[in-house]
Amino acid sequence: MSQDTSAAARAANASVSLVDNTSGNEASFPLIGGTDGPKVIDIRKLYAETGYFTYDPGFVSTASCESKITFIDGDEGILMHRGYMIEDLAENCDFLEVCYLLLYGELPSPDQKTKFVNGITYHTMLHEQLHNFYRGFRRDAHPMAIMCGVVGALSAFYHDSTDIADPHQRMVASYRLVAKMPTIAAWAYKYSLGQPFMYPRNDLTYSEDFIRMMFATPCEEYEVSPVISKAMDRILILHADHEQNASTSTVRLAGSSGANPFACIAAGIASLWGPAHGGANEAVLNMLREVRSKDHITEYLARAKDKDDPFRLMGFGHRVYKNHDPRATIMRKTCHEVLDELDIRDEPLLDLAMELERIALEDDYFVERKLYPNVDFYSGIIFQALGIPTTMFTVLFAVARTVGWVAQWNEMVEDPSQKIGRPRQIYTGQARRPFVPIAQRG
Ligand code: CMC
Repeated sequence: MSQDTSAAARAANASVSLVDNTSGNEASFPLIGGTDGPKVIDIRKLYAETGYFTYDPGFVSTASCESKITFIDGDEGILMHRGYMIEDLAENCDFLEVCYLLLYGELPSPDQKTKFVNGITYHTMLHEQLHNFYRGFRRDAHPMAIMCGVVGALSAFYHDSTDIADPHQRMVASYRLVAKMPTIAAWAYKYSLGQPFMYPRNDLTYSEDFIRMMFATPCEEYEVSPVISKAMDRILILHADHEQNASTSTVRLAGSSGANPFACIAAGIASLWGPAHGGANEAVLNMLREVRSKDHITEYLARAKDKDDPFRLMGFGHRVYKNHDPRATIMRKTCHEVLDELDIRDEPLLDLAMELERIALEDDYFVERKLYPNVDFYSGIIFQALGIPTTMFTVLFAVARTVGWVAQWNEMVEDPSQKIGRPRQIYTGQARRPFVPIAQRG
């Protein structure tokens, strides 16, 4: 018999009482908990029992769902997928093994891995007619704009995997999305260059194929550097999932209405694009270029601290990590390895980034607010060293995060307690007033 781990089953006997000071009424709400992490007050019946809503902009104190996929302890700097530490996964797995883990809950056996890799590899091609879809974009379109459009358009091409009530169709859609993202992303880049699209090749690994589709041309043979493909694989692993962040919550919210998976992932891509989220890796590089030299660091730190200035230190701070971002630690190490392997000795932007990090970490403003470098602080520097253009940085994040979105979307669809997402609000507009006919206005 499977263990019942639902919220109701874990409700123990603990509860939290709310006393209404105006009426003196008291209501009690169950205290529930997961495998790890803080206890949670189950307020699903709050409105029915008290007539009150809660107010929590940005969901700072609100769990929106149950999940078995990823756990983060922001104070300890811990990130685990399905119980495995990110450090172990990044050190010992390739990206597709991590994809299998996220999708199926267990690391694959050798046979399972072979079958999975095969399944993904044979879904990497895009419908030929999608060529025409790309041609509708301006050549100078941001590749994230193309990603939103093309991924959303997949629902118009793959009708046989949009029935979300069918588990087989859900899995086919999941494979298609994970498999086709590198092709879609590489083609977005090729389109901006005016170069021919490169078709996927089944004899290469996921990362090798992605790099080849971005950088090769049909005119000559292209050897993928093992250093670059290994770094790419690690970067993909580090970005694969991150529990209920903005884009994942967007995917879940879009999916909660029963929308098809391609449309939901397109919504996730749109959310990821913002500079406070996945767009930060591009913003870090733009910021470093703007700062220009170590001489200007103090000036920019002062701007980051000035509440009247919208400038923020990009690549610093995180909603959940208040000690360190474990992904940033691995990324920092990978960054140095890549620069060593590629024999890049004098990288002015890296020098600048290191100095900026050093000064910020000694600054009271950042120390008091527990603002540390996040994963995006280093990823941009690696991408730049790998020859990837700045506008493609967030696209790479989207390629990596697709498996997380898809795993979370599947989990949501299968969750019996799932409901359409429908937050409430505090209305602060005009109170009811009489209608004024147009002739009497002004
Ligand atoms: N530079 C300057 N001040 C900052 C920064 C920053 N990067 N981040 C936070 N603060 C300040 C903020 O002004 C606030 O100060 P005060 O308490 O005086 O009002 C305090 O720190 C707390 O910040 P917050 O805005 O309440 O924190 P949040 O959890 O809402 O925002 C964040 C988190 C990641 C959006 C924010 O830290 C930020 O904008 N960072 C820069 C963008 C970035 O690097 N994003 C990538 C995140 S990691 C990749 C991903 O998961 O997408």
